[in-house]
Amino acid sequence: QDKEKISVTFVNKDGTEQTISVPVGMSMLEAAHENDIELEVSNLAWYFGTAGACEGSLACSTCHVIVMDVNYYNKLEDPTDEENDMLDLAFGLTETSRLGCQVIAKPELDGMRLALPAATRNFAVDGFVPKPH
Ligand code: FES
Repeated sequence: QDKEKISVTFVNKDGTEQTISVPVGMSMLEAAHENDIELEVSNLAWYFGTAGACEGSLACSTCHVIVMDVNYYNKLEDPTDEENDMLDLAFGLTETSRLGCQVIAKPELDGMRLALPAATRNFAVDGFVPKPH
């Protein structure tokens, strides 16, 4: 296995999955774009904005993703206050929500699974806990 890249799986709202190879150091937003995964379409179904509205500058929350395994969530750097503020505006916020532009690939994240927020409606019964606003 190439140690410069990790494997990340995106789970779409219809339950289909796409596993991609992400270079260490790249954000999940960039990685999704490079692989034609439309993070924003899922989020845009629910609110304002244009795709990739802020391009990773913590000003839009359209890059919202949900880390499906808390063990991976716990390996991420803690969100900044700015990220938490933006997440508070995101539809379908969960306890393991992050902004994809702030999640940077590193070796420990190999195998991580990320759900697009609209998908969580389908997974609600599997233990996703909506976080109260
Ligand atoms: Fe706008 Fe991540 S792309 S907050």
